[in-house]
Order: sequence, then structure tokens, then C-alpha cells
Amino acid sequence: MVGIDLSGKVALVTGVGDNESFAWFISKALQAAGATVVLACHPRVVGIVEGVLSRDMDRESRLLPDGSEFKPAKVLPCDAGYDTMADVKLDELPPATQRAYAKLTTDYSITGMVDAVGKEFGGIDVLIHSIAFGREVTKSQLDTSRKGYLEAMGISAYSLTALTRAAAPYMAGRPGGGSVVGLTYIGGERVVPHYGGGMSAAKASLQIDAKQLAWFVGEKGARVNLISAGPYLSRAMRSIKPGEMEKSVEYAAAHSPLRRPIEPQEVASAVLFLCSPLASAVTGQILYVDCGYHVMGT
Ligand SMILES: NC(=O)c1ccc[n+]([C@@H]2O[C@H](COP(=O)([O-])OP(=O)(O)OC[C@H]3O[C@@H](n4cnc5c(N)ncnc54)[C@H](O)[C@@H]3O)[C@@H](O)[C@H]2O)c1
Repeated sequence: MVGIDLSGKVALVTGVGDNESFAWFISKALQAAGATVVLACHPRVVGIVEGVLSRDMDRESRLLPDGSEFKPAKVLPCDAGYDTMADVKLDELPPATQRAYAKLTTDYSITGMVDAVGKEFGGIDVLIHSIAFGREVTKSQLDTSRKGYLEAMGISAYSLTALTRAAAPYMAGRPGGGSVVGLTYIGGERVVPHYGGGMSAAKASLQIDAKQLAWFVGEKGARVNLISAGPYLSRAMRSIKPGEMEKSVEYAAAHSPLRRPIEPQEVASAVLFLCSPLASAVTGQILYVDCGYHVMGT
């Protein structure tokens, strides 16, 4: 039997917002495979994540296959809208965000957070990008403002470049090479009418960016891949446009070769594969974990 053993690897996972996020299932799978997991969460959700990591009522969601519990080595705040702290303009933020950010005691920019992890843990083997934000996602493409569009692109797409750039020095020379994995959606290549606000453009950008990045970090032995996940009702997705995502999940399930929706654990399993030596020559790829939905013409 060929198992996946990530013992001794350091995995930096972004995008855990709660215990329904794809990144939550990915983090658990990485720890179950032996990796040390560090979470970098949006400052707004650090308290929520610390809650699901400690509350009795959430214990079941922390369980790993061997009966132990998911326990990241660290939970750090990071706002992927900022490459360095010089980008932070507190006075331009809403008052509640200003107050919350003013209380943070660590560097919550991408570069500062990645440097802190790379130095404390002596390197980074795995980087997970599971971040998306589009303030106007419920607006149609026609009604999307320039500001909303550019913000969606910056946070949901450019952040992969900024994170990879910051992590690359810490991935260099790691045994087996580093692995970067991001999450995309079919809305980046086909028309999904309700996926607006610049989100479809952000995913399209993310897809070519991942290929570009694969070239630029490849000479150091690192790999960059994306998973295109089928629609899944994370807590955040359910709240965007109640009813709409449910319809997408049902439609995709009915029209997929496997005739069922995906499970978030299936995305996590595919991430494990991409981060493992089994995928040592796989880079610049988009792996569809969507029950085959993308091959259909209807
Ligand atoms: N749920 C789906 O149907 C689906 C399908 C395909 C791809 N995806 C992608 O999977 C990824 C994870 O989505 P999810 O469904 O787990 O939802 P989620 O809301 O749980 O995850 C998105 C995460 O992005 C984080 N985020 C938003 N703005 C940020 C910022 N400025 N800085 C740092 N973090 C920020 C949020 O805090 C959240 O944790 C996203 O890239 C999403 O586009 C989702």
C-alpha cells in the first residue's frame, strides 16, 4: 500500500474561516498525514477559528481519523489585501475594523506573516491559498463597479502571487520541494451568471497566475497547482445569496457524471496528493474535484 506521509513538513494554510471552510478540511488532512499546520486567518475570523478549535461543542469537527484532534501549531492573523504593513491605511477602514486592527500585535500583512512562519518553523513546505472575497459577488457582471472588481481581483487572485513570492525563499531547498495549492472554480472559465462582482475574472486570473508562478518557482523545485472544486455549501457560500448556491449544488450534482455533489474531504484528499511525492512532477495544473461536472456540455 502507498500512503501519504508528510511528517516533518510545515504547512501554512490560509482561508480557514470556520469549521466548514475547505481550508479546515485541508488543514485536518495535512495534520493527519503528519504535517505541522500553521493557520493564517483573516483578522476578522481569528476569534471564530480559535472558538472552533477549543469549544466542546465543536470537538467532533476537530477529530482526525485516528481519534486525535486537529490542533494547529499556531493561528496567525493575515489580511491578504496587504503585501506589507506599509499598505495598511487604518483611517480608510470602517471604524469597527480600525479598532480591531489597531489591537493586533503581530504583522498581519502577507510578507510579515509568511516571514514570521518561515523563521519560527525553519522553512515552509506547503502553502495553501484558499482565499476569496468579492464585496459585489451578488451583483451581475454588468452591474459590478470598478472598485469592487479590482478589490475582488486583489484579494482573491493577486494574493496567490504575493503569498508565493513571500514563501518562495522559505520553500527553497526543502527536501522534495515546496508545494503551493490554490482553490479555483469553474466560474473562472465558463459563464456562471450569479458569480459576479469580479469573482469570475479573479478565478480566471488565478488560473493563469498559477501557471506563471509554476514556471517562476519551478527552478527552485517548488510546484504550483490549483484545485477546481465543485460547488459546495460552506457557511460563507450559504450566506452570500441564500437559495442561489443551493440551486448550483443541486444542478451540478444532477449534471455531473458521478451524479452527486462533492464532499469537502474530497478536496482535502486531492490537496494531499498534490503536496505529496506522488505528484512530484505535477505542476501548473488545474485538478478538477467536481464529480466530473466540467466535462459536460449541458
Ligand atoms: N464553496 C464553493 O462552492 C467553492 C467552489 C470552488 C472554489 N471555491 C474556493 O475555495 C476557497 C475557499 O472557499 P470556501 O468555500 O471554503 O469559503 P470560506 O468563506 O470558508 O473561505 C474563504 C476564506 O477567505 C478568507 N478571506 C476573505 N478575504 C480575506 C482577506 N482579505 N485576507 C485573508 N483571508 C480572507 C475568509 O476569511 C475565508 O476564510 C475560495 O478560494 C473559493 O473561491 C469554493
